[in-house]
Amino acid sequence: MANQMNQSFYNRQEDIANGNASPLQLPKHSLYTICNLRGGVGKTSLAFNLSSLTNNLLAIDTCPQGNLSYFFDDEYSFKQTLSSYEMLLPYFFPGFGKATGVAKPIKATNQYFNAPLLSKNYFIKSSNQLYLFPSQMANSIAQARALSGQNQTQLIDTILSSLKTEITREMKETSTSKCLIDTSPFFAGATHLALLAAEALLVTVRTDQQSVNSLNLLIDTLSNPASEFRKNMLSNGFTPKIQMIILTHCGWSTVAGARNKPNQQTKMFIQKIFDIVQSNINFFTTDDPYNHIFILDDFLGSGRMSTALRKPINMMTQGDTMTINRVRTSVNKSIVKIQHELQYISDCIWT
Ligand SMILES: Nc1ncnc2c1ncn2[C@@H]1O[C@H](COP(=O)(O)OP(=O)(O)OP(=O)(O)O)[C@@H](O)[C@H]1O
Ligand SMILES: [Mg+2]
Repeated sequence: MANQMNQSFYNRQEDIANGNASPLQLPKHSLYTICNLRGGVGKTSLAFNLSSLTNNLLAIDTCPQGNLSYFFDDEYSFKQTLSSYEMLLPYFFPGFGKATGVAKPIKATNQYFNAPLLSKNYFIKSSNQLYLFPSQMANSIAQARALSGQNQTQLIDTILSSLKTEITREMKETSTSKCLIDTSPFFAGATHLALLAAEALLVTVRTDQQSVNSLNLLIDTLSNPASEFRKNMLSNGFTPKIQMIILTHCGWSTVAGARNKPNQQTKMFIQKIFDIVQSNINFFTTDDPYNHIFILDDFLGSGRMSTALRKPINMMTQGDTMTINRVRTSVNKSIVKIQHELQYISDCIWT
């Protein structure tokens, strides 16, 4: 058993909750991939909410489920516009012309992004064709492997860096300076490319054992020579590091006078995550485990309303109510704490 977590971590949590914490001095990057090899852990919710807290951002949906695309444009799937899938096609089916102008302004299809700060934020939608993409990518890599020497290395590098190449081009076209990629819960295909495109990773982990297992699986994928990731690497050996583990769906003690004490379950998972971070610290962007664990309270009704309205959580107010699937849902006072937690994550990642 590793060391018990330091009380200063919980004190910092209290400052964050109150909006009084100064951001951690972490390395700053311009392109983050949000990932974990498990569904329903909050990847898309985080991508959507971080997109509403900064400017000049390009958000990219590489998940075939398209939940992030839906947040930005509830009619995205009916439109003939290009997606992240078409953007990648030329690298896998020679003869397809290179794409251009794939990113669309979010404000055109989500009213909440009309705010002045957000008016230069863009997104690239997903396509359900991405379900087929892993096998197409595996075929292309197998064909490239049949070539010899320098040609093989060059072609595999071109394939594996295709998403990065396209993102760089789209960021230039849209004059954006920050990028967030949302991924699917499965490794093969676009998630693999998104890991290779990242400058650093944001990993959401829900407070349940399966999500902790999937964090271990992700670390194994990055580190184990037998993993699919390490069998198909760029020739320069690039492996992204993890900037943050974001523990989602956290609950807090309701005992009178307890203030910012996590409940037993949350506390246990914070400790488990701390142990994993500590023993794998070389996969993180600094050497202090306390720099890499972030907390997000359970969104409760605010999360359901945010999804139903496609409205960022930072724009919601305590007392807002609506009926979702015949259930009266309301935003309670914990919204302010959640808004501070999201803002803090945003403050710790961008330059
Ligand atoms: N603290 C939290 N962080 C993120 N999501 C939360 C949190 N609390 C509650 N939720 C709810 O949990 C769900 C998380 O779903 P989300 O689509 O973001 O997960 P995901 O990891 O993207 O799933 P998938 O892998 O299927 O794409 C949402 O309904 C959200 O409102
Ligand atoms: Mg998702």
